[in-house]
Amino acid sequence: MSQKILEVKDLVVEFNTDRGKITAVNGVTFDVHKGRSIGIVGESGSGKSVSALAIMRLIPNPPGRIAGGTIKFNGENLPDIQMDEMRRVRGNKIAMIFQEPMTSLNPVFTVGNQIEEVLELHQTELSPKERKEKTIDMLRLVGIPSPEQRVKEYPHQLSGGMRQRVMIAIALSCEPDILIADEPTTALDVTIQAQILELMNKLQRELGMGIIMITHDLGVVAETCDEVAVMYCGQIVERADVDTLFKYPKHPYTKGLMESIPAFDSTSGKKKEKLTTIEGMVPSLFDLPAGCNFYNRCVSASDRCRESEPKLSPVEGSHEVSCFNPLSL
Ligand SMILES: Nc1ncnc2c1ncn2[C@@H]1O[C@H](COP(=O)(O)OP(=O)(O)OP(=O)(O)O)[C@@H](O)[C@H]1O
Ligand SMILES: [Mg+2]
Repeated sequence: MSQKILEVKDLVVEFNTDRGKITAVNGVTFDVHKGRSIGIVGESGSGKSVSALAIMRLIPNPPGRIAGGTIKFNGENLPDIQMDEMRRVRGNKIAMIFQEPMTSLNPVFTVGNQIEEVLELHQTELSPKERKEKTIDMLRLVGIPSPEQRVKEYPHQLSGGMRQRVMIAIALSCEPDILIADEPTTALDVTIQAQILELMNKLQRELGMGIIMITHDLGVVAETCDEVAVMYCGQIVERADVDTLFKYPKHPYTKGLMESIPAFDSTSGKKKEKLTTIEGMVPSLFDLPAGCNFYNRCVSASDRCRESEPKLSPVEGSHEVSCFNPLSL
């Protein structure tokens, strides 16, 4: 078994809003291993980004707060450490690529300045000349052509795909132990998306990082992850290694997500239209049902599911599901 580098246990994140308190993340548990990727998937609002922001201690407080659980990294519980120590962890040990790359780059500084700034903060032993060289190396590493030229350009001079590569370069500049990638390719077109994912896989092999890949797209998970956690209404409803999940999904929600991946039709050579979508609406976090959160959309629901809440429990090996009527093999 590979080395565990991050242990998230029973994480709870709450927000106070005008309409009352919501629990955006409700008892989430997962581990990140060295050199391995875990995918976190789920529909919009399921708590993927909030989970990541909690690990980074970037939940805006108020209105939000980590209300429970532990996030152990190198033997320390991140929610307990001092903010200045957390700043050293952030970027240096755990880096994050944010969902919206345009807003994370500063428009008034060149791409080179922004990478150098990160290096200056986190790799204090480098001389200014070494920093410049390393910046160009990083741009080359993420597959940016003519890095010696690009380093002098401003974010608006780059395409979306190139900007996202710059974000990855910044995140990787400090050789983090863990990279959290929040929808790193959603805004990009399909060919660029494939290139970026391939690049992340390659860098992971070379640098041995653990990756948390956040996406609503199970296709991305299939291509990049070793294991996967499926989230619904702030909870993990199924977790397994990727092959197992795709072969033997146990939760009706996971199966629904899988059936909504556009598959490739081998006879026509074209992409199939979306096969199905999951009927019904995600319940509001202000008004969650008494039983299973997926009850109102579930094809396998029984009376028990309306009355009581299932818990995530093992099915076989490390495969876990939170369902009273899991799908049979
Ligand atoms: N600052 C905030 N104040 C109040 N509620 C918030 C705040 N940030 C997030 N939430 C709520 O927390 C819940 C989870 O949001 P989150 O951003 O984690 O979803 P997500 O799974 O990342 O969705 P998406 O796929 O759209 O990115 C949502 O209901 C969201 O409205
Ligand atoms: Mg998100």
